[in-house]
Amino acid sequence: MEKLVIHGGTSLKGEVSIVGAKNSAIAILPATLLCKGICTLHNVPNIIDVKLSCQILEALGSKITWLSSNSIIIDNRNITCTHAPLDLTRKFRASYYLIGAMLSRCKEIEVGLPGGCNLGARPIDQHIKGFEALGAVSNLSQGKINVRADKLVGTSIYMDVVSVGATINVLLSSVFAEGTTTIDNAAKEPHIVDVANFLNSLGADIRGAGTDLIKINGVKNLKENITYSIVPDQIEAGTYMLAAIATKGDLIIKNCIPEHLDSVTSKILEIGGNVEYLGDSIHVWSNSRPNKTVIKTLPHPGFPTDLQPQMGVILSIANGTSIITESIWDSRFQYTAELNKMGAHITAQGKSAFFEGVESLYGAPVYATDLRAGAALVIAGIVAKGTTEVFNVKHIDRGYESIENKFSSIGAKIKRVTEGE
Ligand code: EPU
Repeated sequence: MEKLVIHGGTSLKGEVSIVGAKNSAIAILPATLLCKGICTLHNVPNIIDVKLSCQILEALGSKITWLSSNSIIIDNRNITCTHAPLDLTRKFRASYYLIGAMLSRCKEIEVGLPGGCNLGARPIDQHIKGFEALGAVSNLSQGKINVRADKLVGTSIYMDVVSVGATINVLLSSVFAEGTTTIDNAAKEPHIVDVANFLNSLGADIRGAGTDLIKINGVKNLKENITYSIVPDQIEAGTYMLAAIATKGDLIIKNCIPEHLDSVTSKILEIGGNVEYLGDSIHVWSNSRPNKTVIKTLPHPGFPTDLQPQMGVILSIANGTSIITESIWDSRFQYTAELNKMGAHITAQGKSAFFEGVESLYGAPVYATDLRAGAALVIAGIVAKGTTEVFNVKHIDRGYESIENKFSSIGAKIKRVTEGE
């Protein structure tokens, strides 16, 4: 068991480089199954969820070679198995993408019901609605789901909720469907566009990704060779932007797409921070205590739920009382109890949390309850006076590459320690 030990009270300064997006990589890895040849992927984040995705693909017959820590070759010429290992698929959320991808590749798949961060109820009814509309039959029993189809036929699908996962899954399952599929009320996150770009580079015919109406004209075959680079991680970039503001620091965040973070930039400016877009970098700095604000998380292009806890750290030390309303997940305020152990005054009630800003936080032992909560607690530890220990680091490693090395390189006093050392 490992923990992160942080000696707080430093301002972050310098440059940090962003890797490819976790939530794009874990969709594009199963998407490679649609290619009956060889895919070379660059800018792949070296994180636990990617390693798990690779293990699952290997169990289905993929041959995977790492060219470097962020580049990978996937040879999918011999996919032999339609039953994904239940223990691995249950470990994380994105295993649901195997359903869409394998429906396209083999017309059948069985996976364990997806796990992932505990953020409240995480139904997949919209995914199933999409598969069944295309002609598939699904059977859910004993913690696993089997989906099969004799043939997939294009149709119109209206999503009852805006869902990243369901949008990508319908994209994956409709690439070879006969005729045209439309997805109405589709999600618009940058990784939806990235998955569509990947599939289009292989020869798929997907139009409108990034808007709420996506059209997929079914094709018969895809190319058997592709080299593709994963889009930069909007959430990793946003995490470092918010860390700069929380610590009254000055950071250049390199290799990102600033426009993906417009909603975050606008909130940072509102609370008195500074942001400058420099091509594919963002300069973020602050010299003063942040002001209070009101935030509601929304699907893209709204303020991302995956940056809500990191923003919560800033509001816990802001001047005045702020309110965050979480509209995506039922249970994403668990980190507030941990911040309160560090001296914050936060009251979470249902979908909203009230942040009565305090002058400073102090170090304490705290527990990462999920991935983004973990990132928030790391930022809080860097801000706080004294020493913070962040436990449950495994959650953070699922989605952040070398978090302690990156934060150390910009001035944080942080190290990973094996418990008991
Ligand atoms: N929903 C349904 N039915 C469905 C699917 C979703 O009711 O069939 C609801 C959910 O309960 C939620 C809302 O729709 O209230 C949005 O869920 P969505 O499907 O968009 O979420 P997801 O695909 O399960 C992805 C990311 C999450 C991120 C959300 C929202 C992955 C693997 N996960 O989850 O990322 O919070 O989109 O942007 O891509 C994270 O990275 O820390 C993380 C939790």
